[in-house]
Order: sequence, then C-alpha cells, then structure tokens
Amino acid sequence: MAVPGDKSVSHRAVMFGSLAEGTTVVRGFLHGEDTISTLNVFRAMGIDAADDGDTLVIRGKGLHGLSEPGDVLDCGNSGTSMRLMTGLLAGQGFFSVLTGDRYLRARPMGRVIEPLSRMGATIFGRDGGAKAPLAIQGRTLKGISYVSPVASAQIKSSLLLAGLYADGLTEVTEPSLSRDHSERMLGYFGAPVEPLANGARIRGGGELKGREVDVPGDISSAAFFMVAALIVPGSELLITGVGVNPTRTGIIDVLTQMGADIEVAGQRLVSGEPVADLLVRSSSLRGIEIGGDTVPRAIDEFPIICVAAACAEGTTVLRDARELRVKETDRIAAMAANLRAAGVQVVETDDGMEITGSGKLRGCTVDSFGDHRIAMSMLIAGLVALGGTTVTDTGCIATSFPSFTDLLERVCDR
Ligand code: S3P
Repeated sequence: MAVPGDKSVSHRAVMFGSLAEGTTVVRGFLHGEDTISTLNVFRAMGIDAADDGDTLVIRGKGLHGLSEPGDVLDCGNSGTSMRLMTGLLAGQGFFSVLTGDRYLRARPMGRVIEPLSRMGATIFGRDGGAKAPLAIQGRTLKGISYVSPVASAQIKSSLLLAGLYADGLTEVTEPSLSRDHSERMLGYFGAPVEPLANGARIRGGGELKGREVDVPGDISSAAFFMVAALIVPGSELLITGVGVNPTRTGIIDVLTQMGADIEVAGQRLVSGEPVADLLVRSSSLRGIEIGGDTVPRAIDEFPIICVAAACAEGTTVLRDARELRVKETDRIAAMAANLRAAGVQVVETDDGMEITGSGKLRGCTVDSFGDHRIAMSMLIAGLVALGGTTVTDTGCIATSFPSFTDLLERVCDR
C-alpha cells in the first residue's frame, strides 16, 4: 500500500510556492481538510492554483505579490495553517484576520505571537492576544534571535516565515530539533536559510524560485497501518514511498525498541526529503520507556503508540510529552479515557502516561474528541478488540487522511 502525501510538506509546498517567483508543481499533495485550508487562504490572497487531483500547479507571485484578503481567513482545524500564516502575515503590507474551528480557537497562539511581537509585529487576539481569531496589521519587522521554550516546528516555521520579510537575521533555537521541513524546503526554493543543530536561521530580503515538489507519503498516516500490521497476528504489510526525515522517524525507533519487526528499504532523496519503503510484520511487543529527544520526533504518533502499548506485554512509560495536552485535543486525557473504556490500565501523569498491556482489548464505544488521530487510533485498536468497537464523531479523520477507512478495509480484506 501507499499512504497519502505528507501533511507538513503539503502545507509548506503551497506556502513557499505562492511566495516564489514562477511556477511550482506539486505532485502527491495531500487533499485533506487542513492542507485545503492553507490552499484556500492563499487563493483568498490572489494566488492562482490549479488542482487536477494529481498535480497542483501554483503560480507564485513572489515575496511581495500577495493581496489583502477581502474577508476573514479560515484555517479550519489546522494549527499549522494558523501558526505559520501568522508569521507570514505579520510581515505583509496589509491587514488580515485568521480564524478556525472551535478546537483551533481554543489552542494557544501566544507561543507565536509573543516572539513575533518582539520582531515588531502588531497582532491582536482573544484572551489577551493568546487565542484566535487573530487580527494582524502587517508591518516592517526586524530579525531576532529567539530561544524557544518548546521544540515546535510551528513556532520555528512561523518565525522563519516572518524572518523572510525582516531586516537582518532571524534565528530560532529549540530544546531539541523539531521537524525541519521548512528549512529544507526553503533551501530547496533558494531562500537564504541555514539549518542549525537545534533550529535554523534565515536572512531577510531573499528570493524564492518556483520548483517541482514530490511530496513523500506521510509517516504519521503510515503509523496507523504500521501498528495495525504489528498487532494483527499473521500480517505482513509493505508501505511504499514513506517520508523518513530523521526528525519524523521517532515512531520507527519507538516501535523497534518495543520489539517490532520493521524493515526500512530503498532509501532515496526526493525533492530534498528522504523517502523509503517500510516492511512491517506482526510482532510481540513489550513495554518501554519513552522520553527526551524522541518525543518531538514522534509528536503526532502518541495516540497510536498508546494502542501499541496497550497490546504490549508490560508497562510503557511516557514522559516529557506535555505538548500532547495542547494538540487538536488533550491527547493524554483522550487516550487515557478511551483505552480505559477498552479495559486497559492507564495512569495519567502531568507530562505523559503509563499504560500496562492488557492482553486483550475489549470492544467499546468511544469518542474522537474531534481529533483525527484519536479516531484513527481507536479504530486500529478495534481490529484486535473482543467484540465491536464504535468510534463516534469520525468526520475529523478527513483533516489529515480522508481515505483512511477505505485503505483500512482494503488491507484487511487481503
Ligand atoms: C507540525 C508541527 C507539529 C505537529 C503538527 C504539524 C508542522 O506541531 O504536531 O501536526 O507541520 O509544523 P508543533 O510545532 O506544535 O509541535
């Protein structure tokens, strides 16, 4: 099987393609609600993008070619759209307003607004400027050196986008390196960006050149199928063309440490991103300890790692993962509640959880909490539960993986 295009890379291809001189051709663009939100935001600022379902052709207008949007820009459920756009819009010569759905409007935006304000940005929001809707009066920015308290690619990328428009150098360092797709793709588009061991820096006033981008399969989507193959006895699953950027492969490391049989083969570089094929075979898993630098490298995979832990022998201890509490939902609380409903012993901690494998999961009815990854994780858990599992409010799956249930039915039929 193959999984749809990487969400992070798809967002960035639209953003950088729109800001580039000339045409950008994107193959394998993820047609999820989140990435379509980004596309619509750029269309609302005058960008022409033709999408035939296979290839997305973006007519870039250069760094100063966007026009003032006539209405509020809706980011839907997408934190990446909102946080990255906030940085980009802060440096434009016009006024704009960003909003999103009720989940996104509840998420913290102060983490980008505070450093952007230090660059000279003028941004107003609810809750003292910490929550969307956000009103942004674009103006001239100055470069700063920012030490981020959290490893977050959204913070780093937001500041790099603002830094494209700022006077001088903008530098972001983080406690450990978060996904580096922005720095890679900005470099691929010819921007004066420099990757650092724990962050990146960019010089203002550069120029981006339109490029061809082949989007790798999303390892965060592949993760659900990897765990499915591991926990359903007798499975063997080959997932082709998956992005294996080292800032994203924490899931492979964690599962391998749990005893998973995963082969990574045929590694190649595609549009500046490493890609490989993954062969996964059912394995007996054991509980492990997860923390430190592995956490940002697997940040979106913890709901499905929780399912793997529930099917493992012994206890899995997760720590240093407080960020999970401010994702699309509080993923620690959501997975603790849902796994308990499936008969699993879970202890919630401030920055993580302890999950003791239960032998057999119990079929149950659980909620998605409006979070795509909680919904998909519990459906995978349902494959091995005794009795039926019902997940309510699964419309959210379309934010990142609209073809999830079709693909799952297909691989389960074989
Ligand atoms: C993303 C960064 C991560 C991740 C999100 C996508 C990105 O968020 O959870 O799904 O594309 O930059 P944080 O930067 O908040 O960790």
